[in-house]
Amino acid sequence: MATERAADGAWFERARRIFPGGVNSPARSFQAVGLDTPVVIERGRGAWVWDTQGRRYLDYQAAFGPLVLGHAHPRVVEAICRQAAQGSLTGATHPREVEWAEALTAAIPGLEQLRFVTSGTEAVMSAIRLARGYTGRTRVVKFSGAYHGHSDAVLVKAGSGASTVGIADSAGIPHGVLDDVVVLPYNRLEPVETVCREMGESVAAILVEPVEGNMGLVHPAPGFLEGLRALATRIGAVLIFDEVITAFRFHYGPVASLLGVTPDLYCLGKIIGGGLPAGAYGGRRELMEAVAPAGPVFQAGTLAGNPLSAAAGLAMLAVLRETNPYPEMDRLGARLEAGLLAQAREAGLPATVNRLGGMFTLFFGPDPVTDYASALATDAGRFARFFRAALRRGIYLAPSRLECWFVSAAHTEADIDWTLERTRDAFAEVAADRDA
Ligand SMILES: Cc1ncc(COP(=O)(O)O)c(C=O)c1O
Repeated sequence: MATERAADGAWFERARRIFPGGVNSPARSFQAVGLDTPVVIERGRGAWVWDTQGRRYLDYQAAFGPLVLGHAHPRVVEAICRQAAQGSLTGATHPREVEWAEALTAAIPGLEQLRFVTSGTEAVMSAIRLARGYTGRTRVVKFSGAYHGHSDAVLVKAGSGASTVGIADSAGIPHGVLDDVVVLPYNRLEPVETVCREMGESVAAILVEPVEGNMGLVHPAPGFLEGLRALATRIGAVLIFDEVITAFRFHYGPVASLLGVTPDLYCLGKIIGGGLPAGAYGGRRELMEAVAPAGPVFQAGTLAGNPLSAAAGLAMLAVLRETNPYPEMDRLGARLEAGLLAQAREAGLPATVNRLGGMFTLFFGPDPVTDYASALATDAGRFARFFRAALRRGIYLAPSRLECWFVSAAHTEADIDWTLERTRDAFAEVAADRDA
């Protein structure tokens, strides 16, 4: 038996023997940043995490998004403990899930009814089935570089962890499934117009991350989402916004309401579960009433709406509503963005930052990043060197140039200063093209 203080390498060797590639999700692998052995995180508190050797890192990865309050927020921990003492699962409707759903419908325009599931993947998979069942059509339009989880229909030209490990088109997906998925470039309306004109009567859904988070952060071009809204309405397709990353990330609600566009269906996950497994899909009541047992579209889940996730989610939502940390996250995000760009410039490294609130991506390259092609054109080698240089200095980033940094409500001004004191040297190291 290895001890509690076993070196990260020893833990990872054990992990490698029993998990494919040593991980339970490919995005956790450090392969793309040139490291065989990732950090093995033992615990987290606030904005910080500690590895199994007791080394401390300032965490900008935030478990890929859910931890908007940082790690182990006392209100969330207390809510989980209180609920656990009363049972973690009922297999029946219970009050916490009702309150949880009511909190979401109150904050999300157009979310009249919803169904809880246990992951973002399930939320999207179920929303697609509903759109198909409701419209009686089969085709789904999605955008290259978006990631909507790992169900068959959406794992075509998918971004984030999928393309980072080079499998944007996964093996094991039947051709028949792919025949019904149309993949188009993000931020360009003309190809969507063409598809709607030529095959509109077979399109069940247009599926989009309203602000992209899986090719790095990419903003929607002016008019793009409005155009999708109008086209979906015109052809009678269901407009699905995948807000698994973006809901409650930038304000107390979906990014859709900041952008002024309302979809027919939302997919939710990450933050709404307070760090516990959760997802949801929902929208117009009349559409949702096609879901079983109200309607003919079957979808179910033993752990769906479980009391522990409900308690954690409710606690996180309550803290967000009461404390409104968003202006401060935006201010710290802007400060970090400005500092990183100035340091990159000083080091002679062309760089671009795409940011909204506390969420941003630092791309190594001279050109604006507006879609998957421009995200892929950024410098993977420089990102990998920057990642390693930052990690050595105690800064923990997501290990892919196609992911985001998350400034949480737990990050402080002092944390941003601490970061910028270290990233200056990290940029210099990248510019000198050397690893210590
Ligand atoms: C936009 C988006 N949709 C769906 C998913 C899938 O969620 P999960 O990993 O909870 O299955 C993710 C995960 O990163 C995501 O970013």
